[in-house]
Amino acid sequence: MPDMPARGRMVVVIGAQWGDEGKGKLVDLLTERAAAVARFQGGHNAGHTLVIGGRKTVLSLIPSGVLREGVTCYIGNGVVLSIPALLKEAATLAEGGVPALERLRISPNCPLILPGHVELDHAREKARGARAIGTTGRGIGPAYEDKVARRAVRVADLMDPVSFQAKLAEVVDHQNYLLGRYEGHTPLDPVEIAERWLDMGQRILPLVTDVGAELINARDAGGHVLLEGAQGALLDIDHGTYPFVTSSNTVAGAAAVGTGIGPRDIDHVLGITKAYTTRVGAGPFPTELDDHAGRHMARVGQEFGAVTGRPRRTGWLDLVALRQSIRHNSVSGLCITKLDVLDGLERVRLCTAYRLPDGSVVEQPPLRADDYASCQPVLEDMEGWSSPTSGLTELARLPAAARRYLERVETLAGVPVELVSTGPERDQTIVLRSPFDVREWCPGEDSNLHASRH
Ligand code: GDP
Ligand code: IMO
Ligand code: MG
Repeated sequence: MPDMPARGRMVVVIGAQWGDEGKGKLVDLLTERAAAVARFQGGHNAGHTLVIGGRKTVLSLIPSGVLREGVTCYIGNGVVLSIPALLKEAATLAEGGVPALERLRISPNCPLILPGHVELDHAREKARGARAIGTTGRGIGPAYEDKVARRAVRVADLMDPVSFQAKLAEVVDHQNYLLGRYEGHTPLDPVEIAERWLDMGQRILPLVTDVGAELINARDAGGHVLLEGAQGALLDIDHGTYPFVTSSNTVAGAAAVGTGIGPRDIDHVLGITKAYTTRVGAGPFPTELDDHAGRHMARVGQEFGAVTGRPRRTGWLDLVALRQSIRHNSVSGLCITKLDVLDGLERVRLCTAYRLPDGSVVEQPPLRADDYASCQPVLEDMEGWSSPTSGLTELARLPAAARRYLERVETLAGVPVELVSTGPERDQTIVLRSPFDVREWCPGEDSNLHASRH
């Protein structure tokens, strides 16, 4: 038998909170050793920030491996694709010397986001008034609605202009009907949209490929593969704080469905969580703060949405929600980001349980998503630290109180901490173990964080 190359590992990176955990920074860092990176859900509602040598890049659709030559980036079938947004992002990258389209491959099965989806997103949010979800206004929800209704126009449809025009006319007709309910709507012209989309489509058709097959091939040839989640587990359409969620499955299971690999191809799931919590948009947030500590997190963490610029709400780390995310994603290891943002707080707190309106204390989120809003956090106090963790790359150099905080989070979460991020820069990271190297951890075993004490 000829020698088979050692297989690479397939690692899913997901946000374990309400998004913006620092997924982009981590994916960019980890791609140093990867052959491929794929997005598997969401669309350009994502905003993933990479900072290298003081230079900031914000990516919405293009995977966070794009800055590295030799890494192939994929947009999987689970992504709803805005062609104008993609071309704009690629053009911005090209201006900065990054040949994004040369590094990109796209699934033929991505549903297309059309102008009517964006209009519907805005019209519905406006009509909801005080009950608005606070969407990013990118047309994400309406585009997924059309996918599930089996009337979406997909990337592969661009290959046949005549049938594309017919399919698009059907969708636009439906959108004009829906939009007719809202004031000030000018009917959309299907002929004009078809022309523009077919024209732009020429740029992306050469990139179309069987994404799942290419990922498996890369893995079998010995390359590591990253599957980059967008949003976060608490925004998942099924498992999140419905209806204040996005319209896709954001959990790790979606990485298989959204790229065309199988569930057993996933070797490892890295869950990213901030050392505290943020949320942008409306919806319940049990540990939300409106005090000095919350303002400290917002100011020091520069908590403004990467896509919409909206201020992010801030609060303590919520272990009830995090444990649920760990379950829903079968998280193998955690990355704790923005530890440095807590520097200088006299006291830090962790939410270990919820108190319900009847006074009972529970360690699981409520069964009814609507009841989330009435949960009060049960908080555990810990000593803060005054010497900075900002930029540290070694565990041993962290202040003792910061170490204790991480260890407490690890114990309460029940999975090992694999990485700690101490600043926005790629190299401001403590790597305890790489998700590409690990043997899976067994409960009861000492993690690297704890073992390093002995
Ligand atoms: P993503 O959507 O999960 O990729 O996260 P975003 O890019 O939307 O938001 C994370 C923000 O925090 C970005 O501005 C990052 O540059 C920044 N960031 C990431 N990790 C750290 C960290 O460890 N410390 C600090 N201070 N900032 C970080
Ligand atoms: P990344 O990948 C944080 C939120 C919106 C809104 C809800 C629904 O950068 O972590 P949508 O436009 O998806 O229909 O909005 O989801 N949201 C995000 N919040 N980070 C994101 O992405 C988000 N993408 C959507 O604010 O509350
Ligand atoms: Mg973001």
